[in-house]
Amino acid sequence: MAENGTKVLLVDDETGILESLQILFRGEGYRVTTAVGGTAGLEALEEIHPDIVVSDIRMPGATGLDVLARAREVDPEMAVILMTAQASLKSAMRAVNEGAYYYLQKPFSNDELLAICRRAAEARALKVENRELKQEIKRRGGSRAGRPVGKSRRFMEVLEFTDTVAPTDSTILITGESGTGKEVLARYIHAQSGRSEGPFLSINCGALPESLLESELFGHVKGSFTGAVRDKAGLLVAAAGGTFFLDEIGETASATQVKLLRAIQEREVIPVGATEAIPIDVRIIAATNRDLEELIRLGEFRSDLYYRLNVIALELPALRERPDDIPVLARHFLGEMAEQEGKELELSPEAQQLLESYDWPGNVRELENAIERASVLTEGETIVSESLPDRLREPPAQRLVDEVSHANPTMEVVERAYIQWVLQAEDGNKTRAAEVLGIDPSTLYRKISRYGLGDS
Ligand SMILES: Nc1ncnc2c1ncn2[C@@H]1O[C@H](COP(=O)(O)OP(=O)(O)OP(=O)(O)O)[C@@H](O)[C@H]1O
Ligand SMILES: [Mg+2]
Repeated sequence: MAENGTKVLLVDDETGILESLQILFRGEGYRVTTAVGGTAGLEALEEIHPDIVVSDIRMPGATGLDVLARAREVDPEMAVILMTAQASLKSAMRAVNEGAYYYLQKPFSNDELLAICRRAAEARALKVENRELKQEIKRRGGSRAGRPVGKSRRFMEVLEFTDTVAPTDSTILITGESGTGKEVLARYIHAQSGRSEGPFLSINCGALPESLLESELFGHVKGSFTGAVRDKAGLLVAAAGGTFFLDEIGETASATQVKLLRAIQEREVIPVGATEAIPIDVRIIAATNRDLEELIRLGEFRSDLYYRLNVIALELPALRERPDDIPVLARHFLGEMAEQEGKELELSPEAQQLLESYDWPGNVRELENAIERASVLTEGETIVSESLPDRLREPPAQRLVDEVSHANPTMEVVERAYIQWVLQAEDGNKTRAAEVLGIDPSTLYRKISRYGLGDS
């Protein structure tokens, strides 16, 4: 039988019982650890962090109730099943009151024990999922979204239009280069909408393989694929009353696009492996840094989905097209640093000048990184231009032309040069380079190997 992934800790002072239980549980695919006696059980608890503990009550040294108490400390969602020969109602009540999942009287049949463990595993998985979902909701929507910062005419136009459409329930498509603030805008829309008390959930459509993305979005029913050990609600359902942010929508596979279209049109989803649809109550905001119309021409994006999403289009201009935003954004990020680090810094006139003359291919994210980095490097109270990344001092045209010697370089040549340049600027630090480039580290690694950039 294949492993089912559930970790079980068996605790008993009689090795004979331990051995037979071990064989029983292994046969069912559990990952089994045994501990001889309560004291060993306490140690094993912390060491292996099991999902389920099956423990005898009466043991010399630490008892089953001690094991129970420690298990609750280690992980409140751990399922503890206690067994005893001398069952008394009192001790059973006590055990269950103190959080035991089940109290089993010896002798019991193997089937009985296994059935209880199966239920315990399911109950635990549900509790863990619930806890994770709560944390996720807090993480994704917990911080109140403030008004995006900017003052340029281009940016203010977008923001004013945003203020008009935010309170409605319309679907919105946000486009803009990487790092222009698409997610910031999406959170702001949610905060300004009638759904602001509901959750803001998001998913990066480019970060998950197709089948996983679908199961996350739409949910799945138990047994619909290997690993689907129980029903799971989709995020589109979980976001009820709130907003759902479909990030990197341009990366979705065509089968998923069909299902998304259906979800938006019909306001319902069909979980993977299910036949019945479940209604959803979300406002959809999608974002992409790709040119969807171009993807439609290439046959990679469905035009019907595009029209559904593009009911209201918000286009965030690249930072180089709105240089008036640079000083206010820089001040904003300095203010954030001051709040977090208690470091009050200002920019020297030269540094400010340098920021304003650079073309910011990584947009606001790159500016934010540059300010953070300079803040860390600065000992005194003033950020001087030398603390800003070297690439800001190179003449803009020079930077890529140096690398790209062709008269008409292809996109690939330019991309390779750009990646190489960012890698150099970040001293080969791939995590930072990926941030500046606005791509996943995994994407960067792929490109590095594809372009043979190695570890240079
Ligand atoms: N107008 C703004 N005001 C304040 N902070 C901003 C603004 N625009 C962007 N930022 C900051 O810049 C960073 C990048 O923004 P965000 O993640 O929203 O960009 P994005 O367009 O979603 O990028 P990507 O396409 O790479 O996902 C974030 O740290 C965000 O806080
Ligand atoms: Mg984003």
